[in-house]
Amino acid sequence: MSRVEVRDLTVVRGTRTVLSGVGLAVGGGDWLAVIGANGAGKSTLLKALAGVLPYSGEVLVDGTPVRALKPRERARLLAYAPQSPVLPADMTVFDYTLLGRTPYISHLGRESRRDREVTASVLERLGLSSFASRLLGHLSGGERQRVVLARALTQQAPVLLLDEPTTALDLGHQQQVLELVDRLRLADGLTVVTTLHDLSLAGQYADSMMLVAGGGAAASGVPADVLTEKLIAEHFDARVRVVTGAGGRPEVHLERPCT
Ligand SMILES: Nc1ncnc2c1ncn2[C@@H]1O[C@H](COP(=O)(O)OP(=O)(O)OP(=O)(O)O)[C@@H](O)[C@H]1O
Ligand SMILES: [Mg+2]
Repeated sequence: MSRVEVRDLTVVRGTRTVLSGVGLAVGGGDWLAVIGANGAGKSTLLKALAGVLPYSGEVLVDGTPVRALKPRERARLLAYAPQSPVLPADMTVFDYTLLGRTPYISHLGRESRRDREVTASVLERLGLSSFASRLLGHLSGGERQRVVLARALTQQAPVLLLDEPTTALDLGHQQQVLELVDRLRLADGLTVVTTLHDLSLAGQYADSMMLVAGGGAAASGVPADVLTEKLIAEHFDARVRVVTGAGGRPEVHLERPCT
């Protein structure tokens, strides 16, 4: 199980300092949900963790600074599913998912039977086997999103970074994807960091949460400490009612203003 630690992370995009001096720690096998309003910097945080954006500060996996690693080594440690990936329209679902195996294939080599088996098994677990030969350009938004997750899972990295993995999914597929991630976490000890706009879902699955605002962590802790009516009103400008649901976890309900 891999522990993730971030120290004094600062990310500048364009002329704007989006994140400034952020610190966080996720224990091996834990699930951190990052929440916050549009533009708060959640995707920026995940991109920095994944090493696809320049940053200052340090990202450590089990004490190793990720910056020092070669891209292949980094990809074996951290798998990242972006919020809005650009997908090659004329590539098949199978071939795209197989790209997750790239860090295991030598530069001049071809994929092995094992790489193809891992790919087929991930597609099956996501209910995508019948899509294997379909072209990415011919998929619905939710189907594409599941394929992006499939590619990340095929990477078999101990740390999984998922940026809004459920936004385009119908209810059943939201449950399927989050349950699958949770099962992998419990069975294989994956450490999971997700952004999630659905605060109740975030509260149901995460061990800890971080509310990003103003370039840093406005709140962090167990879901019940972060999902409060006061913090949500302040940082999302939303009127909500928070109730304690099954398992003592907070549920967030939008409240319609009285007319
Ligand atoms: N390439 C870029 N150049 C300049 N600014 C950028 C760039 N990409 C993002 N930003 C800005 O950085 C800020 C944080 O963006 P980010 O994508 O991290 O937000 P987010 O919290 O993920 O929002 P959302 O909930 O909409 O996904 C936003 O103000 C955004 O406009
Ligand atoms: Mg985002």
